[in-house]
Amino acid sequence: MGIAPAHKHTLFMKRLFLAALPIAAFIAISGTLDLGKPDNYANQAIPNYITKDNTPLNNEITDKGATLGRVLFYDKKLSVNNSKSCASCHKQQFAFGDTASASEGVNGTTGRHSMRLVNARFANEVRFFWDERAATLEQQTTQPIQDHAEMGYSGQNGDPNITDLIAKMNGIWYYPELFTWVYGDAQITENRIQLALAQFVRSIQSFDSKYDAGIVQAGNPNGPFPNFSQQENQGKGLFMQAPVFDANGIRVGGGAGCQRCHAGPEFDIAPTSRNNGVTGSFTLPNDINNTRAPSLRDLVDVNGNAYGGFMHNAGQNGINTLLDVINHYDSIPQNNPNLDPRLRPGGNLQRLRLSTQEKANLVAFLRTLTGNNVYTDPKWSDPFTNDSLTIIPEPAYVQQAIATASAKVYPTVTAGKVVIEYPSALTHTRMQVSDMNGRTLLNGYIGNSIDLSAQPAGMYFVRFENGQTVKLVKQ
Ligand code: HEC
Ligand code: HEC
Repeated sequence: MGIAPAHKHTLFMKRLFLAALPIAAFIAISGTLDLGKPDNYANQAIPNYITKDNTPLNNEITDKGATLGRVLFYDKKLSVNNSKSCASCHKQQFAFGDTASASEGVNGTTGRHSMRLVNARFANEVRFFWDERAATLEQQTTQPIQDHAEMGYSGQNGDPNITDLIAKMNGIWYYPELFTWVYGDAQITENRIQLALAQFVRSIQSFDSKYDAGIVQAGNPNGPFPNFSQQENQGKGLFMQAPVFDANGIRVGGGAGCQRCHAGPEFDIAPTSRNNGVTGSFTLPNDINNTRAPSLRDLVDVNGNAYGGFMHNAGQNGINTLLDVINHYDSIPQNNPNLDPRLRPGGNLQRLRLSTQEKANLVAFLRTLTGNNVYTDPKWSDPFTNDSLTIIPEPAYVQQAIATASAKVYPTVTAGKVVIEYPSALTHTRMQVSDMNGRTLLNGYIGNSIDLSAQPAGMYFVRFENGQTVKLVKQ
């Protein structure tokens, strides 16, 4: 039998096999989760020009994990008074951001602007939040739950803590069922919550913009795109080219240099970026540690309108439109000790001196980065109807097939490479490779082979999600 595409580890192979897949038409009934037919999160098409990916090896997206993540993301019961979910501040119709400058939590408003959550996966930066205080997306996901103002399980000031939340979740009928479906047993832990939420957030992708159509037609990001207006192409050039400055920090040639920190085609933030001269948040007058921005894709809606203000303080510095953004970079207002050196050429504050026309060109280009599907795709939408969830359990025959299926693993005595063949029932399952001491070497969707050549001689174990275990001997 053929090798199931879900097991191809490299992105290249995933793409190759996607082309050959029939289009699966699973029509989800709103407010109902059909566990026998989860939505496709794991094998979404990723364009071949997208190369950045911050998915950790131990948390590859799975259809089941991301489905659980979706329920958690939209569940108001994850807040102390059952009034706020992640989606209260990260709304699908606003690219998973918020139009309010400061978002409403269970105990007041946030200190900074909510961030759009589109293409969070496709980035070199692995740290999250404006000030990058979360080391990984996994660690980020339970911080809002444990924030006194946002969802209220802080364990401080009389708040209950995350253990109390887990006890509460054990009593909510669908969680033991969903955790068992995803992890094989009903145990709810903070780690499992983090893995599932991070999978859902990483699954939110947007590659159907005018820019994407253009890069496909042109074959590379550099030259003019045939589907762009002259204005959009000129804006693209300005975005990509670095400025040339005189000794006083005044631009005398080149472009606006945005690409140095928001490099396309992902438009993610450069991990080296320091702050961009926007200081002051809702609570801190001198909030200079913000060195991250979400991807610049879907900055504005399909009509080109902004979802409220930009930057971590959303409009507090008067940056409410794309033109305001350009004006900010045109003339960086003031120095601060963490201002990125690229915006301080020769020690002077950057003065781009862009013409009115050049500013309009840049704005036109930024608008080409907005897509369509992300705003409406039901797989990222609210699975609850009036706060209640309907679950169609996985049919018994599917469960039975998974329980009794076994993969072929050979050769079991090897100097290096081991081949794995999956029966179709195991297409969506994960596996774990560990050594004699119980140390995990690999975990997740591993692919159709394991290479033990770099490992010391000895015994290894491959364990599939359904419990099948195969012993390997590395010679
Ligand atoms: C009360 C509003 C609110 C709620 C509820 C909330 N968030 Fe956020 N979220 C924010 C704000 C504000 C920020 C930026 C905070 C900062 O950087 O200091 C943010 C940032 C993030 C980021 C970082 C994005 C990036 O690009 O760095 C992620 C991811 C995220 N939230 C996911 C979640 C998840 C998952 C939940 C639910 C468990 C959640 N949020 C609940 C308001 C909220
Ligand atoms: C030195 C690095 C750097 C350069 C160069 C740079 N940016 Fe930024 N950009 C950032 C950082 C850091 C932030 C987040 C700032 C904050 O909110 O405190 C940001 C934020 C933004 C935002 C707001 C995103 C949001 O979600 O609100 C936009 C839009 C933006 N930049 C566009 C541009 C454009 C257009 C250019 C070129 C004219 C540019 N940037 C040049 C680093 C840079």
